[in-house]
Amino acid sequence: MSECKYKRVMLKLSGEAMAGKNGFGIDFEVAKRIATEIKELVDMGVQVGAVIGAGNIWRGREGGGMDRATADYMGMLATCINALALQNSLEDLGIETRVQSAIEMKEIAEPYIRRRAIRHLEKGRVVIFAAGSGNPYFTTDTAAALRAAEIEAECILLAKKVDGVYDKDPNKFDDAIKFDTLDYKQVIELGLTVMDSTAITLCMDNDIPIIVFALDEAGNIRKAATGEEYGTIIDNFAKEAAEDCQ
Ligand code: GTP
Repeated sequence: MSECKYKRVMLKLSGEAMAGKNGFGIDFEVAKRIATEIKELVDMGVQVGAVIGAGNIWRGREGGGMDRATADYMGMLATCINALALQNSLEDLGIETRVQSAIEMKEIAEPYIRRRAIRHLEKGRVVIFAAGSGNPYFTTDTAAALRAAEIEAECILLAKKVDGVYDKDPNKFDDAIKFDTLDYKQVIELGLTVMDSTAITLCMDNDIPIIVFALDEAGNIRKAATGEEYGTIIDNFAKEAAEDCQ
């Protein structure tokens, strides 16, 4: 089995990833498959933090006439449902996990405490960060970037439906071109919708590479983490090139 070059990673899963073909709710067969893939990383000795979205249950921005903050809070609660489902699937496989919530709900999950999260990771537990960053107007992508910086994850494994970042939507345009590598600044300048700009900027400022890959086939999380196969890597390539020239 290939070795993982990372000791600690942040896995970002979209809520839709849990929905399977239904496109809504939680498909426990799918949750089991994702858990099996995470287990592959844990078995390799990789410390895994995870942030999960909520699009399978509720999308803050599609709250109709609701005020944005309330719609976002509903989304944050929905991430907790997904976090507990993923925890259940991981524990079914014998993987120790802890769910930490950015919004205090002590009866259901531990509160988010950075140093405690790191201790859990050091003990080999998968830590699922629920309730986003606890703030409306921020996405779960931004929560993943923030928590990745806080726990000093070496990269973000960004699981998507498509196998990388394209110049336009590959589901709509046959001539869409995939990027193998991208600089953070290119993502912002080209307006690529891989992550929102707050999340990208956080990763750029904290030198956290983002590995974008498709979650559609078994083994892809491990393959992305080992560099065996992935779609696009987003990193500070321009800065590194400038430093090499000095
Ligand atoms: P160690 O200190 O390394 O043993 O970590 P631990 O998480 O096992 O310690 P602790 O004894 O604090 O937790 C035991 C269990 O209680 C774990 O499953 C935790 O997730 C859970 N737990 C701890 N604090 C809270 C909390 O505030 N709320 C909820 N709902 N569960 C908690």
